[in-house]
Order: sequence, then structure tokens, then C-alpha cells
Amino acid sequence: MDHFLYRDGALFAEDVPVAEIAATVGTPFYCYSTATLERHFRLFDEALEPMPHLVCFAMKSNSNQAILKTLAALGAGMDVVSGGEYARATAAGVPGDRIVFSGVGKTVEEMRVALEGGIRQFNVESESEMEALNGVAVSMGLRAPIALRINPDVDARTHAKIATGKSENKFGIPIARAREVYARAAALPGLDVIGIDLHIGSQLTELEPFELAYRKVADLTEALRADGHEIRRLDLGGGLGIPYTRSNDAPPLPSEYGEMIQRTVGHLGCEVEIEPGRLISGNAGIMVSAVIYVKHGEGRDFLILDGAMNDLIRPSMYDAHHDIVPVHEPAAGAEQAPYDIVGPVCETGDTFARQRNMPALRAGDLVAFRSAGAYGAVMASEYNTRPLIPEVLVRGDQFAVIRPRPSFDEMIARDNIPEWLL
Ligand code: LLP
Repeated sequence: MDHFLYRDGALFAEDVPVAEIAATVGTPFYCYSTATLERHFRLFDEALEPMPHLVCFAMKSNSNQAILKTLAALGAGMDVVSGGEYARATAAGVPGDRIVFSGVGKTVEEMRVALEGGIRQFNVESESEMEALNGVAVSMGLRAPIALRINPDVDARTHAKIATGKSENKFGIPIARAREVYARAAALPGLDVIGIDLHIGSQLTELEPFELAYRKVADLTEALRADGHEIRRLDLGGGLGIPYTRSNDAPPLPSEYGEMIQRTVGHLGCEVEIEPGRLISGNAGIMVSAVIYVKHGEGRDFLILDGAMNDLIRPSMYDAHHDIVPVHEPAAGAEQAPYDIVGPVCETGDTFARQRNMPALRAGDLVAFRSAGAYGAVMASEYNTRPLIPEVLVRGDQFAVIRPRPSFDEMIARDNIPEWLL
């Protein structure tokens, strides 16, 4: 459920007409709903209520400071994967003991900064990383709290580019070698081994792969405890999918996911962490764009928008589907025709949808891409010297620009001219 609904023929973001925001900030832009973000966070928080837990928002899905502050105010932790994300989390006021640091290639500098600023745990992905972290911690006279990321060799049955839990993927330590690696970690003086971590993939639309993986984690927890490790925390990753279309085959609900977690690992008495990104921010955001031209091509018609692949790359990169709806609600039973919906970038890959049925639209009309709050703005680029588009946050009847559109001068001024070209 989200808060982007039609009222009297116009699309609203909570209590604000989307067209009014467009008139103020220009198109294209991202627009987020506070109520939707808060609702999604609470769904997870409540789903894990029976267990000691922390919901760590995977801020790679949306890392705007205003979004982080909104979630942090509800008690969210953060899952960060870079020094930059760590800096963003702390700038948003998230305390170190609510930040977990994931990622397959942490640098020693990133480790140092996080140890200095405070960190809940590092999710360590390899033996080389383990040794590097040990070195940094020892040099600082500290012990770094760690969980080892286990690769459970489970098929997440999602898009190949975002599946992470098979043995051929670059992530984690093969589960078959886990006991050996835990023994090595426990012998390192700069590490405090507190838990197990895993993340098997993103946009999972069924519970079975999670359940398979979590059962393996439960068995491993018992084996590691028998080996003398004090496993007290399980980080079960993110990945629960969202409905990108309004069809009936919706992914499982956070409540069902929570029940499954309790069923599989609840008896272990561990503190549970999860790292959802998409389910919290995805349907809390839309991208609004205007039609520049309607072009009648040979055998097919095109809607050419002012938004492009550099603003929302998911359709080009993962063949992802985003519902695209007119901001002005079409009359009931209005005729529809198939269009290729494209952006102005000079690549055929700059295509959002092929042969998508849309009501009649004219130049200047606004459309909204639904489910664009996750992996939208954060994956945008300035390709074709197109400015990063503004982000707007709505709360009830208020809205605020939470990242402005840079001017061309600002973009150009970031380049430096070497002396010999002056
Ligand atoms: N934890 C870890 C360690 C992750 O790598 C990820 C996502 C998450 C949590 C959050 O997963 P979520 O709950 O959002 O599914 N750009 C792609 C998605 C990449 C996901 C990468 N890792 C897309 O647009 O579909």
C-alpha cells in the first residue's frame, strides 16, 4: 500500500497534488511519501516484535538525508556499504551502535573511520578482509565486533544481476568452510566474533529461498556454539520483494516474513537484524516526468519523455517493469493504445517500456513512474550532461525539496582545467 492515489481525477502524493509539485520544481523529479516510508518501516519492526531485533535500512536503496532522518526518528538502524554511506548515516544522526557495515570490499581507511566513529558490527566477507580488519583494530587498541557473511549456496530465484547467495557469486564465505573460518577469526585478537550474517539476493518474491537459507543459519549457529563461539546476533539480510505491478501475485508480506524468521531461528535466542531496502523505500517513491513529444513512427508510436535512463536506470539495466500512470487520471473506459515509452538520451537502451498500453497523451502531460523510491535517485548519473533530478519529500499537505536540481554552471564548475589548457 502506498499514498500515491487519484483524487477527483488528479494524482496526489499524500495530500499534495503531484501537478502542483511539478509546477514548483519542474520535471523530471522524484517524489517520496513520508507516510509510506513510515508504514513500511513499522511493518518490519512489528513483524519482528516477538524477538530482540533491529531493522537496519539498506540505505543503498535511497540515501537522501531527509529519508534517513525520517527512518532514524522511528528507531531504524542503517546498513551501509561504503565510507560515504557511513558518513551519510552519521550525518543524519544515526548512532554508531545502530550502523552495520556490509560490503565485499571495505578498505582499511573505511574500517578505521567506522571504528573511530562507532559501529554495531562489520559483516566480514572473506578471510583477507578479516585479517585486514584485525590489523586496523589492533593498531587502534580496539576489538571490532564482527559477523561473518556466509554464502549458503541457495538459489534466490531472482534476476541474475541481483542474486547473491549462490556459491558462484562473489559474496560471503562458503558455508562448508564456515567452522574453519570462525575458528581462525576467534584466534585474532582484534576481532570480537558475535554473529552470523547473510544476504541471498534482492527482489525475492517467495519465502522458500529465505527459509532454506535461514534453516542453514540455524544449524550453523548450533554447530558454532558447540565449537565454543558465542553467537548472539543473526543478520538475515534484506531482499523481500515488492509488487511492481498491480497484479495478484504479490510477494509475501513482512508479517509472513517475520513469522518465518521466528519459525526458523527464533528458538536460538539471538538478536535478529534484517536489512530491507526496497520494501521500505520502493513504493514510497515515484518519478514524475513530462511528455516532450508524441512521435508517430513506422508501425509504432513513441512517447518521448523528459526523464531518461540516467534518471531511472532499472528498466535498461534489469529489464525492470515500472507502472507508468498519467498524473491526470484518464476517464473510466478511456481508449488506450500501445506506445514505446522512451527518454531523450541517444541510446536505444533509453527505453522505459515497449508497447505499453497508455491513454491518449499530449506534449506537456505528466506521467508518474511508480515504485521508483528504491534504486532510483541513488543510481542516477549525469550522462548526456543531464542534471541529477530533484528529490521532493511529502508529509501530509506539505512538501519540501530535499535535493535541488543543480544548474549547468554548477555542474561545469566541478571540472578543473589543468594549467596547460589555461
Ligand atoms: N543487504 C545487502 C548486503 C545487500 O547487498 C542488499 C542489496 C540489501 C541488504 C537490500 O536489499 P533489498 O531489501 O533492497 O532487496 N539495484 C538493484 C538492487 C541491488 C540490490 C543490492 N543489494 C535494483 O534496482 O533492483
